[in-house]
Amino acid sequence: MEALLLGTGLLLGAYVLIYYNLVKAPPCGVLGSLRGRTAVVTGANSGIGKMTALELARRGARVVLACRSRERGEAAAFDLRQESGNNEVIFMALDLASLTSVRAFATAFLSSEPRLDILIHNAGISSCGRTRETFNLLLRVNHIGPFLLTHLLLPHLKMCAPSRVVVVSSAAHRRGHLDFTRLDQPVVGWQQELRAYADSKLANVLFTRELATQLEGTGVTCYAAHPGPVNSELFLRHVPGWLRPLLRPLAWLVLRTPRGGAQTPLYCALQDGIEPFSGRYFANCHVEEVSPAARDDRAAHRLWEASKRLAGLGPGEDDDPNEEPQPEDSAAPSSLSTTQPEELTVSELYPGAQSLPDLSKLTRRIQVKAESEP
Ligand SMILES: NC(=O)c1ccc[n+]([C@@H]2O[C@H](COP(=O)([O-])OP(=O)(O)OC[C@H]3O[C@@H](n4cnc5c(N)ncnc54)[C@H](OP(=O)(O)O)[C@@H]3O)[C@@H](O)[C@H]2O)c1
Repeated sequence: MEALLLGTGLLLGAYVLIYYNLVKAPPCGVLGSLRGRTAVVTGANSGIGKMTALELARRGARVVLACRSRERGEAAAFDLRQESGNNEVIFMALDLASLTSVRAFATAFLSSEPRLDILIHNAGISSCGRTRETFNLLLRVNHIGPFLLTHLLLPHLKMCAPSRVVVVSSAAHRRGHLDFTRLDQPVVGWQQELRAYADSKLANVLFTRELATQLEGTGVTCYAAHPGPVNSELFLRHVPGWLRPLLRPLAWLVLRTPRGGAQTPLYCALQDGIEPFSGRYFANCHVEEVSPAARDDRAAHRLWEASKRLAGLGPGEDDDPNEEPQPEDSAAPSSLSTTQPEELTVSELYPGAQSLPDLSKLTRRIQVKAESEP
């Protein structure tokens, strides 16, 4: 009997420790009004994205739910209007797996919405499911699509500065490793998928780091946010049906609610005074140090260049003709290494768009930054 009581006590104690250190999320705590501001949240029809959009709507923002399914997106917009009492919550179609869809979303958004104050890249996948693509679908949805979307929406973000970009990454980035010779190789099997997920989350952190450098002085700041371990459909939807009823109660016990998961992305989007931390990674509403691979400025810059090619952005205004060609040039599939003929380029969409900073200046800034860091 005593042993049973002791065992129960130990189990309860362990759970309390897990609950307060892992499950319970510190609240974002920023309550200011967002009336007159516009936010875009990708993948906002479920999980963390839906709760993030709800909190933005409650604070009075106009919120665009950028989702791939009209049915799920419209249903979420309806729910969020009801729950927040804010009628300015709308759905717009965005499938991050398709570069054409990303461009169509950007064109529709820029022609119908006069402002963009907060862009939250929340949508993500952990598996390719049953699809068999000729490219790395995890990298496409989790990084390349958001990369292109950021480029296309930058004119609005700059116009509305101070404005913010939040990239929902993950602690899984610590297991990531980017092989630039195989960046866009299709992913097959669950082991490759797990690796590709971690790699794409590392790409999120490196992208945020480089974006901050590129945007210095523009008033647009950016942050990578880890939501914590969250009880959502992200992984559960891919486990066999018979296992789900067993895993659901366990997930409910030891993982955060999606509302808890939304707190760090919200903090990064709303907290005053974090601008000096632009480009950094946040977890539990605090800035956190990242893995060595995620603070490699050369890799961040190399990823930026590779992403431009994979996103179908032609040689851009920030290209340096003297730069040595990178090995990934030859590895990139030819269909993605140049601008898609049926798709418009950024300069075609925005002939007057402000050009990104000159690459030689950027390289110097990266060198200075690298030298000043331990
Ligand atoms: N859950 C965790 O423990 C955890 C931990 C660390 C980081 N994260 C990150 O948090 C973010 C949100 O995940 P979650 O946990 O809330 O998962 P979730 O409930 O599965 O939500 C993912 C969202 O992304 C959308 N999406 C998927 N593919 C898309 C595409 N091709 N185009 C546009 N939208 C697409 C989904 O739409 P559909 O409903 O149409 O599929 C869904 O709305 C992800 O970036 C994830 O990597 C999650």
